[in-house]
Amino acid sequence: MKRLSIFVSGNGTNLQRIAEYFLEDWEVEIVNVVCNNPKAYAIERAKKLQIPVRMIDKEEFNGEAFVKELQSLGIDLIVLAGFLWKIPEALVKAFPKKIVNIHPALLPKYGGKGFYGEHVHEAVVAAREPFSGITIHYVNELYDSGEIIMQAHVALDEKETPDTLAAKIHQLEQAYFPVAIEEVLKAIQ
Ligand code: GAR
Repeated sequence: MKRLSIFVSGNGTNLQRIAEYFLEDWEVEIVNVVCNNPKAYAIERAKKLQIPVRMIDKEEFNGEAFVKELQSLGIDLIVLAGFLWKIPEALVKAFPKKIVNIHPALLPKYGGKGFYGEHVHEAVVAAREPFSGITIHYVNELYDSGEIIMQAHVALDEKETPDTLAAKIHQLEQAYFPVAIEEVLKAIQ
């Protein structure tokens, strides 16, 4: 049995998809959803999915006790599904190659602080990039720069807007994120 903790800050569409994907997989359990934003719709989704929600503030998040809490829960993999805080060094050290993130662009472009959600799509459309996509990667101490696990591409149309691009990226995320998590889990002993 592999034990997941999913960190969220916003809508939670990735959380929903991952939870539904693993619903009938008795080898994978989503132990909790960690959320830093009391207004996140992801909280409602977690409740409906009957997954415990662990709300967290910045001080606790950056403290040693939180690392110990995750360890004592026996978490095998932390999944950042639209989680917008930088992961503290102590947590990265405690979970080496056991934290994965999804980013809505083709890293290393359009990554780093401030590049999240629609801000990424606005920048990609403004630069008239021919392609965008998703990057699923391990998490290290820096924003959006850990080892890449996989990328998927999509072409931009001439009339692409940030909203139409967001819809395309959403499709890719729904298709690839759970499968990538499954592959990462297989490699964890
Ligand atoms: C997703 O598009 C994800 O790639 C992005 O936030 C969105 C969360 O959506 N993550 C980042 O921008 C991280 N830098 P969701 O809450 O509906 O899953």
